[in-house]
Amino acid sequence: MSVAKSQSNTMRSALVAAALGAATAGLLAAVVLPGFAQTTPQPAAGAIAIDNFTFTPQTLTVKAGTTVTWTNRDDIPHGIASDNNAFAKSKALDTDDSYSFTFTTPGTYKYFCYVHPHMTGTIVVEPNG
Ligand code: CO
Repeated sequence: MSVAKSQSNTMRSALVAAALGAATAGLLAAVVLPGFAQTTPQPAAGAIAIDNFTFTPQTLTVKAGTTVTWTNRDDIPHGIASDNNAFAKSKALDTDDSYSFTFTTPGTYKYFCYVHPHMTGTIVVEPNG
């Protein structure tokens, strides 16, 4: 093994050790100091984009308690309505308008655009924990 190669390996080992040390310190801090890794628990969020007459993602799977927000990225209005009135329908959403609903009960929620009923989507709400 050449001297240069040996030094290179030594340096790499030192770098790895330093990186591991930093990671370990972070882990310890996260365990020892509540709030180190995450200051305040944030409510879960799910996002659905309305773009080109399509809901994206078509099927969104979330945990119970998640607030789902639809945002209209089209330049014409859309509106959100539940197939079985499981949640209140939105007002007509103009460009960049949003509508949010918090899903607390597990189940499968089908919805559509009441301006263009061929636009459909599904939200699957799974038990939380
Ligand atoms: Co529409």
